[in-house]
Amino acid sequence: MQKIAIAIDGYSSTGKSTLAKQLAKALGYKYIDTGAMYRAVTLFAMRNGFIGDGRENFGALVKLLPKIKLNFVPNAKLGFSEMYLNGENVEKEIRTMDVSKYVSRIAEIGEVRHMLVEMQKEMGKEKGIVMDGRDIGTVVFPEAELKVFMTASPQARATRRYKELLDRGEEVVYEEVLKNVQERDYIDSHREFSPLRKADDAIEFDNSDMGLVEQFDRLYSIAQRYI
Ligand code: C5P
Repeated sequence: MQKIAIAIDGYSSTGKSTLAKQLAKALGYKYIDTGAMYRAVTLFAMRNGFIGDGRENFGALVKLLPKIKLNFVPNAKLGFSEMYLNGENVEKEIRTMDVSKYVSRIAEIGEVRHMLVEMQKEMGKEKGIVMDGRDIGTVVFPEAELKVFMTASPQARATRRYKELLDRGEEVVYEEVLKNVQERDYIDSHREFSPLRKADDAIEFDNSDMGLVEQFDRLYSIAQRYI
């Protein structure tokens, strides 16, 4: 069976990662969560005082970019890979509201995008990959055999994200989560470099009213047509 590249893009908290992860597992493909990479760079910037509390020093961050080492390390127990930043497992920390607050600002920086896109292209060289993000079908793998663009209403997405954060033990307010989802959508769609947009040849997938099982079944049967 030929191996293909599958690009899954879309708005914040559409459940891209959950679905992409399941699909990769079912196909025996590699899964790459590119949002985790932008989140890890954001965490690095926060820890070094380059962003946060009204501060922004992107020049200093760009200078230190070569010092950032990102790795996805498989966790056999969990059945998926976790994000490591300079040798440290940061999987939990990169999912907090604090990182979500700043990540879209960091993802606007041209040098950051350039570095991460190059790494992503390298990871997908051999095909047999499901990658999710914002610019996978448009910039990272414009030649991907299957491109999916996921959407859902901001309310449906904020509700999912709110529950996820509560489950992880974070104290959050629904309105704040909704505001963050909307703000990230706006910045992601209006930035200068590789803004979030549906690739012309992507299949649109609105999952506002779909449960996880139905979403997976639909996506899996779409993927079968391309393999
Ligand atoms: O997918 P996730 O919500 O974890 O992504 C976090 C943020 O990283 C997005 O809101 C976006 O600003 C940025 N991102 C991006 N390009 C990607 C993946 C994520 O700009 N390919």
